[in-house]
Amino acid sequence: MRTHYCATLRATDLEQTVTLCGWVDRRRDHGGVIFIDLRDRSGVVQIVSDPERTPDSYSDAEKLRNEYVVRITGRVSARPTDSLNPKLPTGEIEIYADCIELLNAVHQQLPFQVASSDSETVREDLRLKYRYLDLRRDRMARNLQLRHAVVKAMRRFLEDQEQFIEVETPILTRSTPEGARDYLVPSRVNPGEWYALPQSPQLFKQLLMVAGCDRYYQIARCFRDEDLRADRQPEFTQLDMEMSFMSQEEILALNEALICHIFKTVKGVDLPRPFPRLTYAEAMDRYGCDRPDTRFGLELVEVSDILKDCGFKVFSSAVKSGGMIKVLPIPGGDQISNMRIKPGGDLFTEATIAGAKGIAYIRVREGGEIDTIGAIKDNLTPEQKAALLAKTGAEPGTLLLFGAGDTATVNKSLDRLRQVVGAQLGMIDPDQVNLLWVTDFPMFEYNADEKRLEALHHPFTAPHPEDLADLTTARAQAYDVIYNGIEIGGGSLRIYQREVQEKVFSTIGLSDEEAREKFGFLLNAFDYGTPPHGGIAYGLDRLVMLLAGEDSIRDVIAFPKTQQARSLLTDAPAGVADSQLKELYIASTYDPE
Ligand code: AMO
Repeated sequence: MRTHYCATLRATDLEQTVTLCGWVDRRRDHGGVIFIDLRDRSGVVQIVSDPERTPDSYSDAEKLRNEYVVRITGRVSARPTDSLNPKLPTGEIEIYADCIELLNAVHQQLPFQVASSDSETVREDLRLKYRYLDLRRDRMARNLQLRHAVVKAMRRFLEDQEQFIEVETPILTRSTPEGARDYLVPSRVNPGEWYALPQSPQLFKQLLMVAGCDRYYQIARCFRDEDLRADRQPEFTQLDMEMSFMSQEEILALNEALICHIFKTVKGVDLPRPFPRLTYAEAMDRYGCDRPDTRFGLELVEVSDILKDCGFKVFSSAVKSGGMIKVLPIPGGDQISNMRIKPGGDLFTEATIAGAKGIAYIRVREGGEIDTIGAIKDNLTPEQKAALLAKTGAEPGTLLLFGAGDTATVNKSLDRLRQVVGAQLGMIDPDQVNLLWVTDFPMFEYNADEKRLEALHHPFTAPHPEDLADLTTARAQAYDVIYNGIEIGGGSLRIYQREVQEKVFSTIGLSDEEAREKFGFLLNAFDYGTPPHGGIAYGLDRLVMLLAGEDSIRDVIAFPKTQQARSLLTDAPAGVADSQLKELYIASTYDPE
């Protein structure tokens, strides 16, 4: 039907007769001459219909409207010098249309402008409802192409350079322990029993290592019923990998090479290697979080030792009850008014969302003078004040924001403040790419609701060999990849000895019986010659979101769901016929009242 894609034509194609197919991006009537921007997947090219030069196409051109589907045959011509468009790859040429064939019209009013030149922001619910139109738009079309390029680069690297093979794993399976709620699917032929959709292919990829697969990967769909955010979807895609007989260092090196290959291929950027590393303990200490954005400083400083005996109760009692006092020093913090730190202010609100009761502060003035509330000023000895200024490196003009209380809340609230302040003070360069590894996570964290330890990564993660004596405080051989403050991947070396696996299950409070019931198939497999192995999974959507410069993974997924886990396009989830439920022995107990 056609000879070229629209945006592939150049001045080197002059005088050629070409046939193009696509959508009318825009039609402009310029005093008798009609200009059409014709768009296909590649981009746009300008078509001209002139009653003098191309009388045969003119009456057809007059009937065209935006988004009509057409096939156009014409001759490639040079644009007059006063209408060159350097912004378009096809900006030096235009096509005089000998023939315009209408393949299909638009029969309804368009819900929004689709034109490439149109940068108007459209309400997201409309975009999601008419996703097929949204995907025609330049930004989304580019994002889908970028996503494809990323996956292609992954496949090329893993298959051609590193001998990985792709293996598909089941979607109808048992619950996997990634810590979110499962999506369940009833079994008609096994009444009363349920499949779970995989939260990740974790157990199957480990079984593939037992099977001698050696190097596995999969572009794998994962399903997690959790509260949604801009970087979370109920179904999302992982680049999932597992490999045998490799040390943690070898796994990290291979993964750095993979990430560098992706950046080089899709962005033309050479990332410096090796990537910086932080242990979990360092990351928490310096940034208050395990996925720090290291594009800017504003590092936290613990000052518990200096202020633990000071007269200001909020500080001293925090340390006495096992917590800590930490400071976020903000150079040039004079720009931040007291109003913002006090109740009702935006920074105060940020801190309280993270669980803090408030924010104590000190402003550092010339000559080491400080400006703060009396309760703090009157209760600091000159030595404490001097030590505080020295340890935080505070210069005149620095604002010190304090977190005091239990360690988790202090870190959480100061991390939040650090990010907000860093962004507001323009300290983050949006073009900078910071990738880093966070390693040595703790094996377990305490779940206060269930009053038990739970695996921080997942219960198949191997403990650090030096920490086997007391698993409750052991470090894990686990690693996350952080890209500008967002966790894009995580993995670990796995347990491959049955005794260690059983010890970990018992540490998280799984009895032998429960472990056997849930993971018996894996424990059994471990008895048949399991190689040492480890792996990692990347959030493909998150990686592409960052590479595309988008703020939400919805913008790099063709058909995403809303924050309420709905598809506005298909209107899923939806009710089903009673007969279907009956076949499945299911009745809903939902009562809208
Ligand atoms: P984890 O649970 O850390 O590890 O997931 C790996 C990566 O997947 C991405 N991710 C998500 N992306 C979008 N929406 C979500 N709801 C979502 N949840 C997670 C993140 C994350 O880093 N089986 C282990 C991997 C392993 O140990 O090999 C796993 O799934 O970018």
